[in-house]
Amino acid sequence: MTLQEAILVRHSVRQYMDKPVEAEKIAQLQALIDKSNGEAGLHMQLITNEPKAFSGGLAKYGKFSGVGNYIAMIAPKGKDVELGYYGEQVVLLAQTLGLNTCWVGLTFSKQPDKYEIREGEVLNSVIALGYGATQGKQHPQKKTIEDVCEDKRVESQKSKVESHYPSWFIKGVEAALLAPTAINQQKFLFELHDNNRVKAKARLVLLNNYASTDLGIVKCHFEIAAGKENFEWV
Ligand SMILES: Cc1cc2nc3c(=O)[nH]c(=O)nc-3n(C[C@H](O)[C@H](O)[C@H](O)COP(=O)(O)O)c2cc1C
Repeated sequence: MTLQEAILVRHSVRQYMDKPVEAEKIAQLQALIDKSNGEAGLHMQLITNEPKAFSGGLAKYGKFSGVGNYIAMIAPKGKDVELGYYGEQVVLLAQTLGLNTCWVGLTFSKQPDKYEIREGEVLNSVIALGYGATQGKQHPQKKTIEDVCEDKRVESQKSKVESHYPSWFIKGVEAALLAPTAINQQKFLFELHDNNRVKAKARLVLLNNYASTDLGIVKCHFEIAAGKENFEWV
């Protein structure tokens, strides 16, 4: 399965089977986590065989069951976009390995003795990981392509008609609309600028601590589907 295919079939899964993840798959996930931590100065940690984070009242409220593995999404303060971007790459790798995932910001219990949070670092969220009891289901699409795009090209007629955008841009935005976002808010905007430059922005929302994390996640999806060779971020 390619990463593009993984984008299409990934859905948040909250109920997991009692089936251990093979050591070889854990090693592949760990390798990507190590590489990403090095590249972006993050401190993501893969925690295995740890059922406590998802056995309290919050996890039950969130309808989680059988979660025994997760990634603790830890980084120096102010790196939420990077955590979203690199964390989602791990999510998509997991999907290609036949695993399921769910980003979780609230409905779990913190277990500070299970991971390391250095001075100046924060735990943003966790990503539950394992063999899902189901594959989950497609989230409701609240937004259309027009809702999340803006044509900022000078020479264009600023039309929002879909066909006025290049196909790589549309593919990127479609993939972004399939991405996980906190409470499925999808509060993001992709601006197309001259010379194939793209700016991704979070829309301001009250009471959303995850706007920046979501932004990193949707940028990851956009980049995979649009093709890095077709555009530049601004
Ligand atoms: C940063 C972030 C935090 C999230 N926190 C929670 C959470 O606390 N509890 C939960 O059940 N789902 C949580 N989710 C999952 C979202 O509800 C889910 O991604 C969204 O509804 C879209 O569904 P999908 O992932 O199946 O496409 C979170 C997702 C993100 C990206």
